[in-house]
Formats: sequence, structure tokens, C-alpha cells
Amino acid sequence: MSGQLVHHRPQWKSRVGFLLAAIGSAIGLGNIWRFPYLCYKNGGGAFLIPYFTALLVVGIPLMILEIGLGHKMRGSAPASYATVNKHWEWLGWWQIIFVMFGIVLYYSVVIAWCLNFFFYSFNLSWGLDPDTFFFKKFLMVGSSPFQVGDIRSPILFSLAAVWFLNWFIVFSGVEKGLERANKIFMPVLFGLVALLSLWSLRLPGAGQGVLVYIKPDFSKLKDMGVWIDAFSQIFFTLSLGFGIMIAYASYLPRKTEIVKDSIAISFTNCFFSVFAGFGVFAVLGYMAQATSQPVSKVVSQSIGLAFVAFPKAISLLPAFSQIFGMLFFGSLVIAGLSSSISILEAFTSGIVDKFHYPRKIIVSILCVTGFLGSIIFTAQSGLFWLDIVDHFLTQYGLVIAAIFECLIVGWMYKAKKLREHIRHTSLVSVPKAWDFQVRVIIPLVLVVLLVNSLIKEFSLPYEGYPVLSLVIIGKDWLIYTLAFALIVSGRSWKIEPSRREQH
Ligand code: TRP
Repeated sequence: MSGQLVHHRPQWKSRVGFLLAAIGSAIGLGNIWRFPYLCYKNGGGAFLIPYFTALLVVGIPLMILEIGLGHKMRGSAPASYATVNKHWEWLGWWQIIFVMFGIVLYYSVVIAWCLNFFFYSFNLSWGLDPDTFFFKKFLMVGSSPFQVGDIRSPILFSLAAVWFLNWFIVFSGVEKGLERANKIFMPVLFGLVALLSLWSLRLPGAGQGVLVYIKPDFSKLKDMGVWIDAFSQIFFTLSLGFGIMIAYASYLPRKTEIVKDSIAISFTNCFFSVFAGFGVFAVLGYMAQATSQPVSKVVSQSIGLAFVAFPKAISLLPAFSQIFGMLFFGSLVIAGLSSSISILEAFTSGIVDKFHYPRKIIVSILCVTGFLGSIIFTAQSGLFWLDIVDHFLTQYGLVIAAIFECLIVGWMYKAKKLREHIRHTSLVSVPKAWDFQVRVIIPLVLVVLLVNSLIKEFSLPYEGYPVLSLVIIGKDWLIYTLAFALIVSGRSWKIEPSRREQH
């Protein structure tokens, strides 16, 4: 029977194909707009200390765990946990369901905004006041999360295009779709970002901006919040706790390089962030000089950075502003798409593993439901909803799922067994200390993160939103996805997962 499963499982055509797809999943919108801002806010260059500590302590070990598990079990997240222990299958479903019917719904709307702004770059439609343009004319943000308002048709159109692209890529399968798309996307993305950064660094005032970005303020390291930001960013940026890396690794051939690849994926992702930060701050430095303001006055966070500060800077450029805008928003679209297709694949492979439904039908249904589900975020209240759902799913969903993930693999399956598997299939093996990291250190660190987030939550409702909206929109999103996961895991398998393991 396991022969049959092996036979049906798609495989990456090449190791580079797998690496690019995993890097494509990891590098996303978060690298370009979230990392530079976090770095600036949390002590500039000094932030690299907690960031790289988080990478080494949690990021890489967990990446090895996810890739090792998917490879060993030859299955998506639900199939992999079910093989370890039937009672934990729900966790795999929960991960891919809350990412698929939570994170990706708003994430695809942000990609859609980038697509709109790509076209707006043609004639710099945002004019002299990008702030008013973005919030009042483009999003038409309402006054509270409860006033859903109208659906914004320009966003709806580009959202349809985003879901069509998602569908088109994933529909064609692992090798012909995902592998091929990432083989084009990733080199193009690296080229674009390199071009943009070099261009920005030559602008007058760029040095000033870069200085603000990297100037270390070591006193910030005493602040617990800075460390929490670093650890949560590592999670989101490396796509850990999403069930994605498990599914991607299940398409690897038996002989593979789990440790080397995990290190390569993680470092490429993090260096990309640091590098993109230079470009972002060079542009802000230029803008500060052009408007005779200090850099600190022109920096804004996440969404404001990409859709307000950048358009402002683009309009100020002495030449080729339109092209710069198109390159910038084009890169965001590519970075976003290569991440969103990864969860579609992780979800599809979960359903295929369990129910053996035809893949193309699943992908098509999934993309239509995904599109319909994202529409809520294109309404005038969309920005509030996005903010709330993002907060709950990334601060709680991902962290809780990863704690269980470590405990299941570390204690129930036994970290040692997975380490042995990696030793047998790869040239480089995992040091023994990894067992302790997976069983004790990572869960502990994550529990501290979680408790801290909870304390903050109760002392101050997130961003001052009405408590009721947080409870209804945020918490319920977690609970409904959990209920959905429990229902799916209660259904019976077409072929029992007990014989999945690869020897
Ligand atoms: N790593 C991505 C980033 O930094 C986020 C991401 C990865 C993601 N996979 C995803 C988001 C799937 C939504 C769906 O932006």
C-alpha cells in the first residue's frame, strides 16, 4: 500500500525547484514592508541581535522539524500528524484551515491593493496627497469595524485577478505549476529588488536614511517587546506553523538534504529582508531630504509604508518615477503570490491525502471559495477586519499550533527518531542538542510569547478597537476554524495513514 502512495505522490523535479518554492513561500509582503519597519522601531542595527537569535533558536530548528516531518511522513500536515497519532490529526487541519480561510483571505486582498497600485503608478494617480488618496479615495475606510459599507469595485477586480493567478499556478500541479512559477518568480523578484535597492542607494540623502535604519541602539535590547517582535517576525516570515513546509517537503525524493536546505531557505529569507531594508530606508532618506524633514518624520509602519510613504517618495523622484513605482509594486505582487500559492498547495494536498478527490477540482473549488471569502476584506471596513484577523491568527493561531507541533513531534513521535531519519537520508545530520530544543526550549519560548500577548490583550484591547469587535471577529475566527478542523478530522480516510512513513 505504501508503494501505491509513493507512486501517486508528485515530486519536485529538482532540488533547486524545491528550494525556490520554499523560499518563495517564505519571502512575502512581510519581508519588504514589515521587517524594515520593525528594525527601525526596535533599535535599528541592534534589532539584528534578537532577530538572528530568534532565527537560530527557533527558526532553523523548527524549519528542520517541519521539513523533516513532511519528508518522513510523505504527507501534508494532517496526514503527517495522523501518522504520528490519530488523535492529533485535527491540529494539521486547523493549521491549514486558519491559514487558508484566514490569513490568505486578507493577504490576497493586500496583493490586490499592490496590483491596483502597480497600475496607478502609470500616471502616479495618488497625486500630491497619497494619504488621502489611499485611505479616503481608494479604501474609503469607514468609521468602525461594524459598518461594513460598500465593496470597493477597483479592489474587487484586482482581487479576482489575484485569485485567477493563484488558481492558474496551483491548478497545473507541483512540478508544472508551483515549481515552474517559482523558477520564474524568484529570479525576477531578486533582480527587481536588487535594481530598486541600487537605484535607491544612489539617490541624494539615501545615506542618511540607511544610517537611521542600521544605527544600533543597544539600550532597546532590554525591552522585552523587542524580543517578542523578533520571535514573532521569524515565525511569520519563515512560514512556520502554517503547515506549508510540511507539505512542500512531502514532495521531496528519499535522498535529500534536510539540514542544508533548511539553513539555506532560512538564511536567504532573512538576508533578503535585511537587504530590502536598505532600499526602503534609502528611499525614506531621499524623501526626508527632498522635503527637508528628519527621517523619523517620514517613516510609517507596514501598510502606511507601502501605500502612503512610498507613493509620496515615488512622486518626488527626479526621473522615471512611473517605472520605479511599477517595479516596486510589481515586486510586492510577485512576493505575495509566491507565498499565497504555497498555502493553496498545502491545503489541496491535505484534502488529496485524506479523501483522494481529484486535485484539479479541489483547487478550483478552493480558489472560488477563497475569492468569495476575501470579498469581505474589500469592503470599506476591510482595513479594520484585516488588522484584527491578522493580529489574532498570527499572534495566537500560529504560536499555539507551533507549540503543539513541537510537543507532538518532540515527545510523542520522539525528536530522536526524526533526527535519526534525517541522518539516514541526508549527508549533514542534526546535532543531538536539537532534541532538547524541540522538546523544551522552543515550546517554552513560545509559551512566554503567548502569555505576553495575552497579558497585553487584557490590559489594552488591540489598537483600541471596540472589545466586542475583537471578540466577534478575532477570537471567533480562531474558534470556527478549529470547529471546522475537528469536523474534517472526524471523517474517515480513504486509505489509513498508518503506512505513510518513509524508511
Ligand atoms: N512568509 C510570508 C511573508 O513574510 C507570509 C506567508 C507565507 C503567507 N505563506 C503564506 C501568507 C501563506 C499567507 C498565506 O509575508
